[in-house]
Amino acid sequence: MAYKQGYCLSDREMATTIKLEDDNRLGLDSPTGIHDARKKGLPWLIAALIGAIFVLLLILLFFVLRVPTDDLLKSRHKSLADLSRSDWPALSPKSLIATFKKVAVVSDNGLCSEIGRSILLRGGNAIDAAIATSVCIGGLNSHSCGIGGGGLMTVYLADQKKCLTIDARETAPLATNNQTFVNNPKDAFTGYKSIATPGEVHGFWTAFKRYGSGRIAWQDLIMPTVAHLRAGVPATKLMETNLNLVKSNIENEPTMRAFFINNVTGELYKEGEIMKNPVLADTLQRLATSSDPAKLFYTGDVAQQIAAEIYGNDGFLTKQDLEQYRSIVDEAAPLTTGIGGENIGLCGPKPPSGFVVTQFLVAVMSKLYPKGSNESKLYNDDEFYHRFVEAQKYGYALRTQLGHGPASDKTVEKLLDPAFHTEIADKISKADKVQPESEYGAHLPPSGKHGTSHIGVVDAAGNAVSFTTSVNNVFGSHRRSPTLGIVWNDQMDDFSIPGAKNFYGFEPSEANFVSPGVRPMSSMSPLVAFDTVTGKVRVVAGAAGGSKIISTMSQFLLHVLSFNQTVKDAIDFPRIHNQFTPLDTNYEEGFPTDMIEALKKRGHNMTVMGFPFATIQAIVRQADGSLEASNDHRRPVYMNPAGYKR
Ligand SMILES: *[C@@H]1O[C@H](CO)[C@@H](O)[C@H](O)[C@H]1NC(C)=O
Ligand SMILES: *[C@@H]1O[C@H](CO)[C@@H](O)[C@H](O)[C@H]1NC(C)=O
Ligand SMILES: *[C@@H]1O[C@H](CO)[C@@H](O)[C@H](O)[C@H]1NC(C)=O
Ligand SMILES: *[C@@H]1O[C@H](CO)[C@@H](O)[C@H](O)[C@H]1NC(C)=O
Ligand SMILES: *[C@@H]1O[C@H](CO)[C@@H](O)[C@H](O)[C@H]1NC(C)=O
Repeated sequence: MAYKQGYCLSDREMATTIKLEDDNRLGLDSPTGIHDARKKGLPWLIAALIGAIFVLLLILLFFVLRVPTDDLLKSRHKSLADLSRSDWPALSPKSLIATFKKVAVVSDNGLCSEIGRSILLRGGNAIDAAIATSVCIGGLNSHSCGIGGGGLMTVYLADQKKCLTIDARETAPLATNNQTFVNNPKDAFTGYKSIATPGEVHGFWTAFKRYGSGRIAWQDLIMPTVAHLRAGVPATKLMETNLNLVKSNIENEPTMRAFFINNVTGELYKEGEIMKNPVLADTLQRLATSSDPAKLFYTGDVAQQIAAEIYGNDGFLTKQDLEQYRSIVDEAAPLTTGIGGENIGLCGPKPPSGFVVTQFLVAVMSKLYPKGSNESKLYNDDEFYHRFVEAQKYGYALRTQLGHGPASDKTVEKLLDPAFHTEIADKISKADKVQPESEYGAHLPPSGKHGTSHIGVVDAAGNAVSFTTSVNNVFGSHRRSPTLGIVWNDQMDDFSIPGAKNFYGFEPSEANFVSPGVRPMSSMSPLVAFDTVTGKVRVVAGAAGGSKIISTMSQFLLHVLSFNQTVKDAIDFPRIHNQFTPLDTNYEEGFPTDMIEALKKRGHNMTVMGFPFATIQAIVRQADGSLEASNDHRRPVYMNPAGYKR
């Protein structure tokens, strides 16, 4: 049966088609064969096996006695050039790879991806599905995001081959300025003062009204989540881990304790325990059934409640801040074309997004490693990693000049300039060792925290949405509205504070000082890569994980676009990160010793990367047109991509 809007599809057709990679690559033993052996009689088999083992032992003994020990040792020590895939970690069995013919949805929770898929099945487009999925993630993963926070969305419209972005990031309340947190920087981190004006609801409503399909009612995007919150959903491992991470803060804060302690066990929720959230369900239901949810949230009686609660607790947010909040649609979003000598365009948002740095890294590196580069370089070529780390230093140094104001605008222009890409690619290709610090540019501290989530959707018409959303740090401000059920962000902590030198003694970045009504810088890089000739989406991806988002996203894109790795290969691959401040190069466990030694010889100080890592969600179109989707095994949540076949 051909898929048509409004048709009722059979279960079989609606089923998620999750295809595991062939068993060996996931490290699973295939049970086939054992059955047959049993039928034919075990004694014969055992006799044959013993015989075979005996012969093998003899042969082995023969070689061991003949070959001098020196040679044996040498053969165990591979040179860099001999390193191959098998010297790197095997693919993780903890995340799935799924292939869909037409549409795909990825998010931090399988239940939420499935909500997105059912919206697509009912004729909704990628924008509708992304909103529905994100509302769900905000409800279920309240440590990461929700309507108390904000996000950055990249939308790709296939018929126009055009990207646009929606900036629904939080803004600094009008009562704050560059001096607000000077005396008490900690106020920007937890508590009511750290709460910036939430942007999520405004962003969703703007996206829905301007770019939704018009075939799905607003309330249908929200009510599936309301149902989950009322019925209850099992807590993920990530929820348990995050609750423990900030245990005392939650136990000591009445508004958090009331919700995150399981009243059956008297302890913080653990993995698998059912969490219900009727208070948030009520708030979402009100937004779902409102004819103008943005009005309700930003000027209506929900706004009154929010302002009374936050201002009443000595926070800065007022009714006026909510009233003045607007998400920003940018129809001329940054776009870099010709990536890797291909017809690939890469698009994402302007600052406060970190996308311009991410695209810079990909643009520079893909000049040196264009499409069709030999994948074996990823396994045995230290020069590739040396160059990638050097590119990161140039990129991250410039990131510190991003924020708001004319200096930031100039830096954006520079990072997008193809001539600058060529200049840096040239420099990098000529320097086979680490350069003096002064070579790379400004030396300012980066900012960026974790407690973020990414949603990606490709619909049947080829449209795509890439949305990264956050309450900033894990559980945001550590304050939850008792009457609305919303966990409030602590986005004020993403601003730089004058005089508050960081751990390394560097001056904070002026382009990112608190300024009323302004948005703080972020590393979030929700992006779409598409074929500028055919208009087909190649990659929809984004990540959570603070400053590591930029290096992680660019490494992933290079592996996919230049070296033709599969989505899971590229996500699982060990990461390498250098954010210039500090100067150390961080590598993820799994880099072979020989590779680390070779990079040390080039002047890099190599230190192993501690948790947390950035975690990717991605959809990649394969040569046959199908969509391959995978999540990051580094994030312990119940993830399975969703989609459908026809
Ligand atoms: C803080 O903002 C004020 C008013 O905009 C400005 O005059 C001052 O130079 C700023 N201070 C710093 C340290 O940027
Ligand atoms: C426990 O919490 C649930 C939901 O949070 C609530 O419905 C229930 O009434 C609570 N039970 C007790 C004994 O407080
Ligand atoms: C890739 O490089 C490896 C090792 O240098 C080489 O054996 C292989 O033939 C190369 N593959 C292609 C397609 O060039
Ligand atoms: C990329 O790899 C896939 C297999 O994963 C293969 O089918 C395809 O031909 C490759 N494309 C190129 C350009 O090498
Ligand atoms: C490596 O560490 C040494 C000693 O701390 C320091 O002098 C040097 O600048 C560092 N180099 C890099 C590239 O990090």
